[in-house]
Formats: sequence, structure tokens, C-alpha cells
Amino acid sequence: MCGIIGFTGSIPVQDILLNGLERLEYRGYDSAGIAFFKDNRPHISVRKTAGKVKDLRAICDDDNASCCGIGHTRWATHGGVTNANAHPHKVGKTTLIHNGIIENYHELVESYQLQKDLKSETDTEVACALINKLYQGDPIAVLRQVSSLLKGSFAFCIMFADQPGKIYALRNVSPMVATLTDKEGAFIASDLTAFIDYSKRYFIVPEYHILTLTPDSISMEDLKGNPVEAEYQEVNWDITAAQKEGYPHYMIKEIHEQPQALVRTIEPRINPDNLPDFSADGIPDSFFENCSDITVVACGTALYAGMAGKNMIQNVLGIPVSVAIASEFRYERPVINENSMVIVTSQSGETIDTLEALRLARQYTHKTLAIVNVKGSSIARESDQVLYTHAGPEIAVASTKAYSVQVASFYLLAAKIGLVQGKMTKKEAQNFLATLKEMPGRIETVLSHEKRIQDLTDRFTNVPNAFYIGRGLDYRVAMEAALKLKEISYIHAEAYAAGELKHGTISLIDDGVPVIALATQHKVYSKVISNIRETKARGAYVILISEDKKITDPTICDVHFSIPKVDDIFSVFESIVICQLIGYYTSVNKGINPDQPRNLAKSVTVE
Ligand code: F6R
Repeated sequence: MCGIIGFTGSIPVQDILLNGLERLEYRGYDSAGIAFFKDNRPHISVRKTAGKVKDLRAICDDDNASCCGIGHTRWATHGGVTNANAHPHKVGKTTLIHNGIIENYHELVESYQLQKDLKSETDTEVACALINKLYQGDPIAVLRQVSSLLKGSFAFCIMFADQPGKIYALRNVSPMVATLTDKEGAFIASDLTAFIDYSKRYFIVPEYHILTLTPDSISMEDLKGNPVEAEYQEVNWDITAAQKEGYPHYMIKEIHEQPQALVRTIEPRINPDNLPDFSADGIPDSFFENCSDITVVACGTALYAGMAGKNMIQNVLGIPVSVAIASEFRYERPVINENSMVIVTSQSGETIDTLEALRLARQYTHKTLAIVNVKGSSIARESDQVLYTHAGPEIAVASTKAYSVQVASFYLLAAKIGLVQGKMTKKEAQNFLATLKEMPGRIETVLSHEKRIQDLTDRFTNVPNAFYIGRGLDYRVAMEAALKLKEISYIHAEAYAAGELKHGTISLIDDGVPVIALATQHKVYSKVISNIRETKARGAYVILISEDKKITDPTICDVHFSIPKVDDIFSVFESIVICQLIGYYTSVNKGINPDQPRNLAKSVTVE
């Protein structure tokens, strides 16, 4: 949550900050601000406003020649969306931006009598006031001191008025990456997309290390004052991957990227004999031996990918799988032991609840495996093994391609676990993976029917509620489908196990209530059709996704989407794409920007 960027170098900073903030807006877009050394002198100016980066751009000076500054885009936690609560915060000589939450801000205000310095309602301004109070001209000394006083998560970029041209940084939990380029100077940001125009090389700022950025250097030291070398890495995607490339929104671009994302995730893990191969990931087969049970821990869409994984693994391998909401798991007694595999799933690799759940799980088992998209992220670094998904950068707040590759990763894992544990024969694993390899092509076919799905969503524009129903794996897909509709169209949507509706919820079905029914599971097909008829009989407007070639019976559905026949456990890949498109076009019809739905941010680094 919240995006931060800092730059000091040989070229004007303002556009670097504003352009970088636009790229970081997916992390929060309640307010935005920048601070810079005015005319490169020891004086810091601040421009900030409630609203988006475009609103900030409108209040910035055209002729700003400063070459050192910091910028912030906010997802409000403490304090409402106001100009005063926008970052940067400035108290005396200290100006800072912050991503995270200072949990003990209240105690700090009391203990250090900071109240008189505060103009906002934010925890961040308290940190700023504290640093300013303790600052005696030595930035490193004060950051060392406050690092033991602050409780919570933080990524700070700080400028001191008497240190022109320099930016200081410190982090705990909240992510931060940095780089020094030959031509321009030193960059720091919440993630690489903010400065990828200038460098594909970057390093992850380690926790509790203090960074000093000058126009031609970045130095780093630990809290004892020992110098630490940056460990640079390079990404294999470029800026076009983080641009809309002609699409009106990132979300629709990312929906269309699913076939390639799946190819990149699946193919390198299948060897020429068509068997699962994780050698390039460095995961030994022994990791999958003696695994008695699996717990998937995740949040949101990643959680629902885990739900699909659970259903598939239990049905294919007969291994018990439970799925836990990370924010619940971390405060409960985990029922796992050293033979339990814990699979943490996260696009960003930075979701704090998932990260803390992983840390807890590692107290019980060393069979932790992360399914993560962002290379080098905290969850990837801290888990015993990592299976990277190769979705490329996902910018839209609503996750689409990350979901599909997460689901595919569970299928790859199922084939590997099945083979290693003798629950699948070689032939079965080969057939299973051969079908998995067909999924990108099948999604292309779904995407070719996009216009029909778009037309259908006209019907949704004014509805307050919708239901997604199905049985078995379809029910798990329904969960993600309902989340997609809710988060970007603000229509209340609920996923229901089709057979469970009649135990209460069916009373909500009335004339015209949309019911999106998934009926792709052969063994329960006739049961689902009966459940659908029950909703139709009560006036529901039913959209059915099934493998039937054609359905014209008006007592079953109003609209039918046919997907080509496939083994039950593989239909998830096509069904979810139809549902993502329903969500996307409903949002667009309602005049909402699906990339930036209200109240949300992409990377949830607060609890
Ligand atoms: C919804 C969505 C969120 C995330 C959740 C976890 O479309 O994107 O529900 O899935 O916040 O985020 P990651 O996967 O980064 O841990």
C-alpha cells in the first residue's frame, strides 16, 4: 500500500517523480505529493493534494529545476483522504514519505511530546516529528536511533533540509528497491516499475539497513554501522510489459496476456519426456516426499487460486489439503507438523498477512513453498522453496493473469507430488501435463468471443446483486468470479455452492437477479442443472457456462456460453476468463476505472 519514489541525480526530478508515481498508483490513489530541494538549495518545497497523480501534476511548477526529491501516492490507513494527510510530511528540517503503519504512534506522541508539531491525523507525521526532534545534524545516527523506537512496518525516504541533494532510506517489512545508473543518478522506490525507464538492474533494500543516496552513489550500512554491498539483480521484462500497449486499461491487457503468461509458467517445468521438472527452480524431488498434508495460505484472489488447487489435488491425489485465509491463520494455532507442506501463494510476494503466516508456518515445518510472481520479494526470499509464476508485472488492481498462473502452478505441483509419492503413474502424469499445455490455446478461443461477453454485460449495469453458483471445482471458480465482479463494479456478488442455495440463500433470488451458473463438472452436471432450474423458476436471469453445444431451453438459462469439452479438473482456466471479462465490461459500462477501483490498492502491506 502506498507507493514511494525518490531520485537524486543530474537531471530534473519532477517528471521522474510524477511519472514514477503514475506507475505506482496501483498501490494506492487517495492522494499524492512530492517534495524537492528548491533550486537545489538547502530548502525543501512540498506539493501535495488529495486525489490522483494527475491532480498533483496540475499543481506542480512547470519550471522546477530541482534534481533531488521524493514522491508518494497514498492508500489511506490512519486519517481520511485530505490534503493535510497527504505525504510528504514536513516537520522542521525533516521531510519524509512512508509506506506502512507505525503501530506505536500514540505512545510516541506522548513520550516525546510531539503533539504541537502535528498538523495531520497520520501515523507518518508522528515518525517525521520524532526524527526531527532527535535530529542533531547526523542523519545516519538519528535513523539508527529511531529504528529501535518505531514499531510496525515502514519504508521511509527522508530528506533533511541541511543535506541538499541527499535522500536517506530505511525499511522494515514494507518493500523498497534501489538502483544507481551511470547517466542519471540514484533511484529508490516501492517497486521497480517506478524507474524501469532508466534501469532494469536493481537491488532489494534489506530490512533495517540505512541507505544514503547522492547523485553519484548509494551507500548502505547495517544498524551497527558496517558497510553492506548491494546485491544487484536484473529483470527480464522491459517497460512495455508495464504499459497499456493500446489497451484502454491494464486489466483487459492482462486478461489478454493470460495465454502467454501460462506458457511461460508451464513450459519450462515440463521436460522433453512430458514429465514435471523443477530442477531449474532448484526444488529437489525429496522436498515432495513424506508430505502428509498440504495447507495453502493466501489472501484474496491468491486464496481462491488455492481453493481451486485444493479441490483438484484432493480429487486427483487424495492428499488432504486445507486452505487458510492468511490473516486468520497467523493468529490461530496451526495444525501442521514437519511433514505438512505449506504453500503460500502471492502475486506481489509482499502481502503482510501472507508473509507473517509463512513466518509462523516455518516454526512448524521446513516444507514451505511459495508460489510468487514478483522475483526476490519477501515471501519468495523467506520460504524454503519458490515456484515463480511468470505472469510479468500485474498492474491492474484486480488480479487476472496472476490467478491463472497460480492455478497452473498447483497443477504442476500436483503432477510432481503425484509422481514422487507414487500416486500417479508416469503415463498419468504425462497425460495430465499434456492437457495442461492445451490451456493457453483454449483461453485464446475464449478471448475470441470477447464481444459476445461484452454485449451481455449491458444487462448488469444497474443490478445491485448477482450470484455465481456451481459445484466442486466450479464452485471454487465462482468464488474468484464473484470477487472480480464485486471489486471493480461495486455490485454485491456472492459465490454459492449450487446445492447449498436452497438452505436459505435462495430467498434472495427474485425477478431479474443475475445468476451466473457454472456447470462444467460432469459428475454433478444434472444436479447443477436442477439447482439452476430452481433459481430460474424464481425469476433469476441465468447465464450458463457449460460444455453443452447449445442450450435453448428457457427453463434452464437466458444466455449460454459453450466451452469445448475437457476433463472436469481443467475447465477452470476457460470459465474464469469468461467471468473476468464479465467483471471487466460491467465495470466499464458503469463508468468505473477497473484499474483503480475505490478503496483498494494492489499490494497490501498493512494488516
Ligand atoms: C483481487 C486481488 C487481491 C489479491 C490479494 C493478495 O483481485 O488482487 O485479492 O489477490 O490482495 O495479494 P497477493 O497475491 O499480492 O498476495
